[in-house]
Amino acid sequence: MASAGEPFACLTCYDATTARWLQRAGVHVLLIGDTAAEVILGFDRTIDMPLDIAIALTAAVKRGAPDTCIMGDMPFMSYQADEAQAMHNAARFLTEGRADVVKIEADASFAPLIGRMARAGIPICGHVGSRPQRAALSGGYGSAGRTPAEAQQIVDDAVAMEQAGCVLLLVEAVPPEVTDRIMARTTLPLIGIGAGTACHGQVLVLQDLVGMTDDPPRFAARSANLGQALQSAGEDWVRRVSQRAIGGHTYTMKQGDIRPGAGVEPPLVQTRTPDHAPTRARG
Ligand code: KIV
Repeated sequence: MASAGEPFACLTCYDATTARWLQRAGVHVLLIGDTAAEVILGFDRTIDMPLDIAIALTAAVKRGAPDTCIMGDMPFMSYQADEAQAMHNAARFLTEGRADVVKIEADASFAPLIGRMARAGIPICGHVGSRPQRAALSGGYGSAGRTPAEAQQIVDDAVAMEQAGCVLLLVEAVPPEVTDRIMARTTLPLIGIGAGTACHGQVLVLQDLVGMTDDPPRFAARSANLGQALQSAGEDWVRRVSQRAIGGHTYTMKQGDIRPGAGVEPPLVQTRTPDHAPTRARG
């Protein structure tokens, strides 16, 4: 799609049910981002994402969207501390997580590691620009590349990622001029988030797109208000429960009647008949 000049859509996703709907929607790439630490696990930083959970969620999304490109995101300290450990952890995203691509937040200093991963057959997406895993050092989440020196550094990082063997690039929270420069200096498909409209692909955190986060980044325009819809559904359920009007199917006795005074209670049927088999409705 990138070479045909057709923009492709990427969203974060963290569970099989949502993945099934997003595949039906035609979303091209699903990213199991370390933002799961925030939107799924309730931490206030992405660096709290546990590796095992990231891999398990990646596999869940792949099960829900088997025909969609699935990108796993390597959490903080799963690839920075030790190269051998990084190789092993990246491979787990492919084998256990069934990811098609593995993303790491990187700069030019990661080129040797990316080269080693590429030689081992691991497709890597290099995430440049604003890198939330470095927020403690950079003074928090925010934009990047807004001075000429910083912008040049990000472009150089992207070039180094391509030369090292990445198959995909992602740039976060930079001015469009930086995006343009990356696109002029590299040939890989570039996914942007808060990086202008020129990128080959665009990604957002799903919860920002569908209106479930209280404080989304300014670049994330909403397509829905699912937070409010969920609140209304919850309120409706509270009301129905309090009014004993839960609705839905009520089971009836197959034989006999156990209400007091209704006659002899028949023995409870213990054997499973096809009618008693578990159903998808968790019957
Ligand atoms: O972790 C994530 O969700 C990401 C996106 C914000 C690009 O890296």
